[in-house]
Amino acid sequence: MAEHDSNVGGSAVESTPAEEESQVVSPWEVSAKAGGKIDYDKLIEKFGCQRLDQSLINRVERLTSSPAHVFLRRGVFFAHRDLNEILDVYERGEKFYLYTGRGPSSEALHLGHLVPFMFTKYLQDAFKVPLVIQLTDDEKCMWKNLSVEESRRLARENAKDIIACGFDITRTFIFSDFDYVGGAFYQNMVRVAKCVTFNKVVGIFGFTPEDHIGKISFPPVQAVPSFPSSFPHLFAGNDNLRCLIPCAIDQDPYFRMTRDVAPRIGYQKPALIESSFFPALQGETGKMSASDPNSAIYVTDTPKDIKNKVNRHAFSGGQDSIENHRKYGANLEVDIPVKYLSFFLEDDDELEHIKKEYGAGRLLTGEVKKLLIEVLSKLVERHQKARASVTDGMVDAFMSVRPLPHMFS
Ligand code: TYM
Ligand code: TRP
Repeated sequence: MAEHDSNVGGSAVESTPAEEESQVVSPWEVSAKAGGKIDYDKLIEKFGCQRLDQSLINRVERLTSSPAHVFLRRGVFFAHRDLNEILDVYERGEKFYLYTGRGPSSEALHLGHLVPFMFTKYLQDAFKVPLVIQLTDDEKCMWKNLSVEESRRLARENAKDIIACGFDITRTFIFSDFDYVGGAFYQNMVRVAKCVTFNKVVGIFGFTPEDHIGKISFPPVQAVPSFPSSFPHLFAGNDNLRCLIPCAIDQDPYFRMTRDVAPRIGYQKPALIESSFFPALQGETGKMSASDPNSAIYVTDTPKDIKNKVNRHAFSGGQDSIENHRKYGANLEVDIPVKYLSFFLEDDDELEHIKKEYGAGRLLTGEVKKLLIEVLSKLVERHQKARASVTDGMVDAFMSVRPLPHMFS
């Protein structure tokens, strides 16, 4: 299938007046066309990635001898770049590594942030491969106007939430940019930076002449963990090891740039597996975002917070009166409780049943919300328990620069 990495110059940020009405998906902003939902088919076409189809999902199941994760089965992860090549490599008995990351901009993660991490844990367990997790404390310091000290503190706090997702310490290296950038990693940053003109980053990221140079010089930092030589303590002598990046599709611009540059500096292009967004409580016009507390359920929320937020803010596709609801049923297309259940309710039969009954008006919004509150409270409670048991010593252990001798076994 033809892939259009060449559209790396295409703008991720709409600016021409004619396009002002259309959706924006960039690392900074996710919003649908006025009144609409995010059109993921259009994104695939615009970004030039590939659709993750059923045959690839079947292949993943076959190669890992385990059932596909809910997020794969239900199309939460819906797009990819070169996933087939990663599977070819794996099928030949070779390995690859995983790379993902987090920009520590807030004290607590929200449920949307858990999506790529939960999925990455599944990939790590299913394929038994090493994983590097980048905490871009430098990025958030520059974009969110946090002090260096505060960004570093948030990175460590976020590391605890990430560790609580259950990553295997014998196969996982977590690093913060402020601590780790240097040496081979920095050498790769310079190799990348030399290949990317100012015009090009303007095209990809929409920077303006008023943006400070910290922002403009940041993209290579997020690019180079895609290259094994950035981690000599893990992958020395393994320069051709392939890399697979799980992330939500808002991060695609960084990796379009990375894939464009890679062959020019003699490196393999990273492959990607990309998710749609866990939507805001208010509806699918935007992603759940830490910048709007009413849009988000945090992993620190109490059962009472969850109950209040779902009951007050979760956009309902139910009808305005019971009579109408019984008569017409709920509009599942716009209903947030059903959408959330489709991410986090694992039982396929139960989900189908709820959709059928709710869509036919036999279940009311209040009843579906009650179910959702139970599912989310359990999930969050489980996360909080796991996080409470993560010690500072464990954070140090995950973040120490060390070889991982059994990372492929
Ligand atoms: P950040 O911290 O904004 O987000 C971390 C990860 O969560 C994804 N994400 C979501 N996924 C589903 N639904 C949502 N509502 C939602 N909100 C955020 C993001 O796509 C991301 O995968 N610059 C990055 C940090 C980073 C990174 C990486 C991410 C560095 N290297 C490599 C992915 C892969 C950032 O600020 O992510
Ligand atoms: N959009 C995300 C947020 O609102 C992350 C983000 C902010 C980001 N600035 C960025 C991602 C710059 C990449 C580059 O938190």
